[in-house]
Amino acid sequence: MTSKEIRQKFLDFFKKKGHKVVPSSSLIPEDPTVLLTSAGMQQFSKYLLGEEKPPYMRATSVQKCFRTSDIDLVGDRDHLTFFEMLGNWSFGDYFKKEAFELAWEFLTKEMRMDPKRLWITVFKGEQAIPQDEEAIKLWQEIGIPREKISEFGMEDNFWGPVGETGPCGPTSEVHYDLTGKPCSKGKNCKPNCECGRFTEIWNLVLMQYNKNEKGEYEPLPAKNIDTGMGLERMACALQEKGSVFETDLFLPLMQKLASFCPPGLKNNIRPLRIVADHLRGTVFLISDGVVPGREERNYILRRVLRRAVRYGRLLGIEKPDFFEELAKVVIENHGDVYPDLEKNRDKILTVIHDEVEKFTKALNRGLKLFEEVAKKVISEKLKVIPGQDVFHLYDTYGFPPEDTEELAKEKGLEIDKKGFKEAFKKHKEISRAGVEKKFGGVGRWGRKVARQHTATHLLHQALRQILGDHVKQMGSDLTPERLRFDFSHPKAMTKEEIKKVEDLVNQKIKEDLPVTMVEISYEEAIKSGALAFFKEKYPKIVKVYSVGDFSKEICAGPHVKHTGELGHFKIVKEQSSGAGVRRIKAVLE
Ligand code: ALA
Repeated sequence: MTSKEIRQKFLDFFKKKGHKVVPSSSLIPEDPTVLLTSAGMQQFSKYLLGEEKPPYMRATSVQKCFRTSDIDLVGDRDHLTFFEMLGNWSFGDYFKKEAFELAWEFLTKEMRMDPKRLWITVFKGEQAIPQDEEAIKLWQEIGIPREKISEFGMEDNFWGPVGETGPCGPTSEVHYDLTGKPCSKGKNCKPNCECGRFTEIWNLVLMQYNKNEKGEYEPLPAKNIDTGMGLERMACALQEKGSVFETDLFLPLMQKLASFCPPGLKNNIRPLRIVADHLRGTVFLISDGVVPGREERNYILRRVLRRAVRYGRLLGIEKPDFFEELAKVVIENHGDVYPDLEKNRDKILTVIHDEVEKFTKALNRGLKLFEEVAKKVISEKLKVIPGQDVFHLYDTYGFPPEDTEELAKEKGLEIDKKGFKEAFKKHKEISRAGVEKKFGGVGRWGRKVARQHTATHLLHQALRQILGDHVKQMGSDLTPERLRFDFSHPKAMTKEEIKKVEDLVNQKIKEDLPVTMVEISYEEAIKSGALAFFKEKYPKIVKVYSVGDFSKEICAGPHVKHTGELGHFKIVKEQSSGAGVRRIKAVLE
């Protein structure tokens, strides 16, 4: 069965069973606190949390996902960074029984998988959550012999949340027996056996908890179902291949890649698979709008693409053109299902070409430097690459520290991560000082930030007056264009509340209040009623900024002198930012 057929049959099956077919969301998630989309449920978070009434009770999708959690395993039979996840959801509609029955029917009837090859795992109970006896019973009723149902703990059979907080729950997984033969290690085999006989194909999450900021599992308003099946693994099982890289999802790419390798290197399986996986992921990330860079998701892309270049070296593949050619194969192989790839073709190819070219230039010299440093460390009978060298490799040669760590591991060495971080921080401070000197003081950018800092204080206080004292700042982020403010509040703000907050802030701006600052001890500041940013650790002596007698808050500044400098304050968005946390985006016009 082709991967295209698997996708289609999956969506058709769940559509027939009353599910709304929802398109894949972007790899850049809506929730700005999450870097990338790593699971199909992310676009449904608000429904799962009960924050918004879902327009349908059942949904199904094929979701583009990207995860770096398994990046070290890429190269084995079935781990990937980018993959497609087939999923079905129930938002407080059906639960365990129907979810299991649907999964079983799809696998054995639609996919015609041999029931003998399907094994089940359930949650064995941990951290005050009991063993899932019901799941065992239900699977037995479907016809699975008890000995093919095994129990595992939090590590294996509990899923989520995606970030620190959010929906999660115990799971029941379906594993496929790839060999159909007894355990090669002579064990009484079950899923997770080191013999590698099994591959997990479907994760059925019985989503009934919300992990809150305190790390507690509180029951969700409704019991939901969230499932995820790896398309590549299904293709591997159904096409009876030895790895996901031999399925039709990868074959053309693997063939092209091999055609670039000198004959002696064609069998270098792990690097071949790493380059293929990383390049495929790169193409999808760029298509969805990620660009290589130094921070957050941009950094993930850079790291993955550079890792592909480094592994390409081991295959004798160096020219940027080769990577472009590989990207073309990915676009062609997936373009029919993801037409955006074709639309973004030029962008994808240009970004890859430029980044590979940039990195290739530095790579040889960087690798040489690394060898010298490693040699020195080894000759001194030490085990750790100094942080300063890791930073030098990063800053001058563009080596992601994770890459340097990997190179070090190959030689039985480690890197000094703390030392790297310190060197990084120091460098940042020096360059910031340089910028300020060059442009004389805070400059235009600094003035904009000062206005936003002050506006943030007004907003914080206004929210507390309108919504109540439970409002606490959970985070903020300022750019010259807008300010973002996260705060604790249990539900969405109404239109009227938003308007009241805006009006109050604007009134305080009109009053042209003076902004003053004193430096006192942290304890004194708190005693005097100054607000503090909830999660921050403060030094002993802090700056307290007062805006008239409206707001008093610990802050490092900078601020404006009078609120009249702020202009007009406008809230452009109010949305969820995790359980019990709201996010406001606002601008000064
Ligand atoms: N959300 C579940 C997963 O990602 C289905 O495995």
